[in-house]
Amino acid sequence: STFNLVVRNARVATAADTFSADIGIQAGRIVQLGHGLAKGAREIDAAGRVVTPGGVDAHCHLDQPMAPPVRMADDFDTGTRAAACGGTTTVIPFAAQEKGQSLRAAVADYHQRAEGKAHVDYAFHLIVSDPTPQVLEEELPALIREGYTSFKIYMTYDDLKLGDGQILDVLAVARQHGAMAMIHAENADCIEWLTKRLEAAGRTAPRFHAHSRPMLVEREATHRAIALAELVDVPILIVHVSGREAVEQIRWARAHGLSIFAETCPQYLFLTAADLGLDDSYLGARCVCSPPPRDKSNQEVIWAGLNDGLFTVFSSDHAPFRYDDPQGKKPGGEEVAFRHIPNGIPGIETRMPLLYSEGVLGGRMTLNRFVELTATNPAKTYGLHPRKGTIAVGSDADLVVWDEREFVLSNHHLHHNVDYTPYAGQRLRAWPGLTLIGGEVVWDGKDFHPRAGRGRFLTCETPSILPRRAGVAA
Ligand code: URP
Ligand code: ZN
Ligand code: ZN
Ligand code: ZN
Repeated sequence: STFNLVVRNARVATAADTFSADIGIQAGRIVQLGHGLAKGAREIDAAGRVVTPGGVDAHCHLDQPMAPPVRMADDFDTGTRAAACGGTTTVIPFAAQEKGQSLRAAVADYHQRAEGKAHVDYAFHLIVSDPTPQVLEEELPALIREGYTSFKIYMTYDDLKLGDGQILDVLAVARQHGAMAMIHAENADCIEWLTKRLEAAGRTAPRFHAHSRPMLVEREATHRAIALAELVDVPILIVHVSGREAVEQIRWARAHGLSIFAETCPQYLFLTAADLGLDDSYLGARCVCSPPPRDKSNQEVIWAGLNDGLFTVFSSDHAPFRYDDPQGKKPGGEEVAFRHIPNGIPGIETRMPLLYSEGVLGGRMTLNRFVELTATNPAKTYGLHPRKGTIAVGSDADLVVWDEREFVLSNHHLHHNVDYTPYAGQRLRAWPGLTLIGGEVVWDGKDFHPRAGRGRFLTCETPSILPRRAGVAA
């Protein structure tokens, strides 16, 4: 037979349009789209259900080493298992350089962490925390050429943050070699100053995490990141934008003709600072992440930005720590001051179903915009399109068939290795009924079908949304 698999009667949704078709798959790729396709060796009847490209989660943290005793709960096995069950078929986690470590050594380390474990395809963003001359002049340019065409830099966190001069140096490399620079924009000194004052007043419960990082510290750093990018004349992407004031800075930059991209995440649509606690209860530690969730009116600003094109990508920022665990939110078994609570929340599995439920079925965004934000744009932004992120002849057969059904989310539905979900109690209206990777069923709506080690490492091209520069070394 011509096809290994035919998915029949699909309501195919891409970023551009929605149409009914059969999808013919051979050797892991889509080879034909149309009606009346020949019989495949295997057949799946989509029965008119919506079929979207598998999700591309362009911001997730898997198996990143932390300062002891803290450990991330998900490695490339459990993290990509959860991804697949939630309709994500490609992940782009981080290969983080530690200060004093060569970038090469970091990359080699993370390949080992993924090897033999990943159930879904993966690429890496680099995290540059130590931009030595060796990194700036040799390692980073060479790695960009080898297919690591994006990296994240931090304006906060003591072990990761760069000063403005270092940021300029790194952005200049992004410009010269054609890479996408992602920036975590929060003002480190303001956070430290506020944290000390809160601590001196005995205000150390989880909810004070939000008080230590108010929106103005994000607004100021977002503006500064934009200015630094303007100085170097290079596009950047601001990650995990949380609300109005940062959005205003990005709109201002765009209005002035600057190429500033932005990402947001489920926590800024579905959580508020109240989830960090209304009293001093330690349970709020479950929602400690940075930037912190804001309030309802900021959620509306994020929804508006998702719709009107302000945001290019919708990622999970999955940063998994167990709650009731000495390696997690209670380091060493203690209820610690907010400064010491590991930052981050799980979300790799719930990203797509939450946005499909509240966005598409809740009437807040079109199906095509959903596809664009969760799959097509992340693939374009990081040099994986058109292999990933769309349903087209020649693209990988990574597909999600959506089941529309109502249920209340609980952590026992999920496949991560975290002992809670911040979204427990959320009413969902849809979940993937089928996830296919390279034409193989990895999630059938009930059971996970492991394919550890068959998730492939992807090298990334120069992102197609970057300007083509004469003389660029990429
Ligand atoms: O709190 C968060 N988001 N932790 C993950 C690391 C990061 O800054 O993205
Ligand atoms: Zn960050
Ligand atoms: Zn992150
Ligand atoms: Zn099964």
